[in-house]
Amino acid sequence: MKKRVAILISGRGSNMTALIEAAKAKDYPAEIALVVSNRPDAPGLSRARSAGVATAVVDHTRFGDERKAFEHALDAELQKNRIDLVCLAGFMRLLTPWFVTRWSGRMLNIHPSLLPQFKGLHTHRRALEAGVKRHGATVHFVVPEMDSGPIVAQDSVAVREGDTEETLAARVLELEHKIYPRALRAVAEGRT
Ligand code: GRF
Repeated sequence: MKKRVAILISGRGSNMTALIEAAKAKDYPAEIALVVSNRPDAPGLSRARSAGVATAVVDHTRFGDERKAFEHALDAELQKNRIDLVCLAGFMRLLTPWFVTRWSGRMLNIHPSLLPQFKGLHTHRRALEAGVKRHGATVHFVVPEMDSGPIVAQDSVAVREGDTEETLAARVLELEHKIYPRALRAVAEGRT
């Protein structure tokens, strides 16, 4: 039985698209059953719909400061769709320990750096400022502490002379699109 996966997005959804594409393969151990966005205007939503994937919006602004109520609504959407695994892909809400614990060992995130380096935002700019020779992306299980948790997949590119935040980000994004499907396969097959 293929694992039923939900992808959580907030924006353009290029990693989401990479996962949807990978899951089209007959032998892929997971199916993308649902895409959920916390933003009604996320461009990724229409990309998901045109790929024939069910979508839902759980708009965090409707819940004001009630983070817990937002997460309960999110969780209800996942339960309703009988989701086994969750992939965060550019999902820009911090999740509380309640939600993270509930999905412990069943929720992945992709982060655009070689964790544990450069947790948080603006990773490409910070990598250039630090003068690192290699930079990359990491897929990891989600734990309550942000951008931490057991690493499932990681890959890197060389930083080139003259790289800008944009050129470096573009090369890392290509890597992301390769490692996320690989990591999800490993998790869905129980190889972690
Ligand atoms: C990616 O760089 C991902 O690593 C980070 O947010 C970005 C999302 O891009 N968490 P996309 O929406 O998948 O195109």
